[in-house]
Amino acid sequence: MHPKAKSLGQGALTVALCATLVNAFAGGDAKRGEYLAKAAGCVGCHTEEKKDAVPFAGGRALKTPFGTFYGPNITPHPQAGIGRWAEADFMRAMREGKRPDGKNYFPAFPYPSFTKITDRDLRDLWAYLRALPPSARANQEHDLWFIFGWRSLVTFWKWFFFTPGPFVDIPGLTDIANRGAYLVQALGHCGECRPDSPRTATSPQRRWAK
Ligand code: HEC
Repeated sequence: MHPKAKSLGQGALTVALCATLVNAFAGGDAKRGEYLAKAAGCVGCHTEEKKDAVPFAGGRALKTPFGTFYGPNITPHPQAGIGRWAEADFMRAMREGKRPDGKNYFPAFPYPSFTKITDRDLRDLWAYLRALPPSARANQEHDLWFIFGWRSLVTFWKWFFFTPGPFVDIPGLTDIANRGAYLVQALGHCGECRPDSPRTATSPQRRWAK
């Protein structure tokens, strides 16, 4: 091979390798994240129920027997939203149901299902949320009954009803069936409301679904 052609070939290989590495370390894919956010219905709980409400800017009232929860602003606004979060904060919220300060989230946020979302999908969701226009809409405090508002008590609930960790393929199912199971169990969080799901009696979602 001509030495020049050889060096060109090496150059192309280096470029290709760098591109692969950049892809591997770059953040998630916002476009895919948009699709995943739709599949998971994030906008529903995180958008006020009124005309011209800003999507993901929070304010949706979720009435439960424990009181009313308000979906928070999850746009990248530094004060009103989650603009100061690192990707790791988002992963921890979704996977472990924990705030950046280590306190528990209430399971009105369906993290018991979202914990099953794979790392790659979480990164794509994060990329999508980061790309949203920031909204300064201020969050509302939840309006909960005495003691149900104590985040520390959620720790006991977690002992019984929360198993963190991504979805694992169910043996014996085809790839397509496992993909379906993943969509239903992790993103669709269908188990939160379904009467035949194991969490029925204690799931707040089930109650407000009535
Ligand atoms: C069934 C309603 C519901 C759905 C669906 C839902 N959320 Fe939420 N989310 C909540 C509630 C309620 C909270 C607040 C929980 C708390 O204060 O303990 C919350 C909190 C959060 C937080 C923490 C915000 C903060 O300021 O601390 C993030 C991030 C979040 N949700 C992302 C998502 C994403 C991403 C999706 C879709 C994959 C989603 N949520 C779907 C109800 C929901």
